Amino acid sequence: MTTVKTDAFWMPFTPNRAFKAAPRMVESAEGIYLTEKGGRQVIDATAGLWCSNAGHCRSEIAEAIHQQAQKLDYSSIFNFAHALGFEYAERLVQHTPKGLDKVFFTNSGSEAVESALKIALQYHRARGQAGRTLFIGREKGYHGVNFGGISVGGLPPNFQAFGQPLNVAHLPHTLDIKRNAFSKGLPEHGVELAEELERLVAFHGAEQIAAVIVEPFAGAGGVVLPPKGYLQRLRALCDQHDLLLIFDEVISGWGRTGSAFAAIEFDVIPDMITSAKGINNATVPMGAAFVSNPIYNTIMDAAPEGGVEFYHGYTYSCHPLACAAGMATLDIYEREGLLTRASGEIGHHWEQALHSLADLENVIDVRNYGLVGAIELDAPVHLKGKLGAKANALAWEAGVMTRGIGDAICLSPPLIIEPHEIDTIVDRLRDVIKMCAAV
Ligand SMILES: Cc1ncc(COP(=O)(O)O)c(C=O)c1O
Repeated sequence: MTTVKTDAFWMPFTPNRAFKAAPRMVESAEGIYLTEKGGRQVIDATAGLWCSNAGHCRSEIAEAIHQQAQKLDYSSIFNFAHALGFEYAERLVQHTPKGLDKVFFTNSGSEAVESALKIALQYHRARGQAGRTLFIGREKGYHGVNFGGISVGGLPPNFQAFGQPLNVAHLPHTLDIKRNAFSKGLPEHGVELAEELERLVAFHGAEQIAAVIVEPFAGAGGVVLPPKGYLQRLRALCDQHDLLLIFDEVISGWGRTGSAFAAIEFDVIPDMITSAKGINNATVPMGAAFVSNPIYNTIMDAAPEGGVEFYHGYTYSCHPLACAAGMATLDIYEREGLLTRASGEIGHHWEQALHSLADLENVIDVRNYGLVGAIELDAPVHLKGKLGAKANALAWEAGVMTRGIGDAICLSPPLIIEPHEIDTIVDRLRDVIKMCAAV
């Protein structure tokens, strides 16, 4: 039992009372391992919150942050700047899809989403279409917790207490276990769900719609992969109706799918990409919206000469410590080939290992892509929608950090993981899943 006082800290997205009655405390981390106070090691099979892509406590990143803190800890980023921010932006766009060459820095994924939504509105206004104010999100979508993000998001607990104050409509989600159970890679069925966009356009009118925002694969909604051809169809419909397409790649970016971005992996280029987390290995809060050149140029050209073009930004946008961490992270990604590693042998091993669990009676679906995956369990009636949380607790006891979502065990290990470590995760989860059958 921990001796730390737990009264003051109101924990986010956590059942505070239950947690404080039985806290799970992590004391240190290295590579893919977390260590508890007593020294017990747990495999971090979720890369923290889908973010420590290069593994924990990389010394190069720690050193870069340390050096930067002694050189320039902070300086205003409104009307002043530091060269590091420009250098970092130039390096980032070497990895973004061609044409998404402008970077608007934020401090989180939620802020990246808010920024992208505002950019979309301002873009339409700048080209004389200020009536385009409706955003189309998707059921099961997660776009952070700010008011724009929960409006376009599609996870009811996140908006039920607060409302969805933006003007929004939602596409249906694409999870179809009946037709797509045990898909390896992208599921075969469901491309027709993209046609729902056509219906929403007909209903609301294209002239009302600013943008469509989706995660290429839904993460916090339970690792829901896009059916084959689905994202291509969304892109085609957006082009047809002159709507912007925003990919929220806060999770799917930075190597998770086997390419730097899912947009590259799936060969569908949106008009904006939102990013955070793996952008600097989650070491210092940072996010970004990557924006197409036409959007940027339209907004610049419409503003009066010498005036502020976009009334938006954060005190900590482009924070020097976050940039230094980001530069060091890119060094590691590039040197170790991490941004494409998941598309090689390790991704294949991951797929085989996860699908080996399909023989368990209470496993009703295994889905995977790159180095992300989910194992869907058949929950007894009294635990429907809650078995993932139960499995999560059992997995922690078994020495694996997982993410329980609904009745699924979701996994997204650091991209440095080795085959034998994947095997250990799967061995431990086999026991956990058997225990879940008995709850
Ligand atoms: C797709 C997506 N967008 C936005 C966010 C919000 O990011 P943050 O928690 O950094 O605000 C997340 C977080 O998990 C996410 O998965």
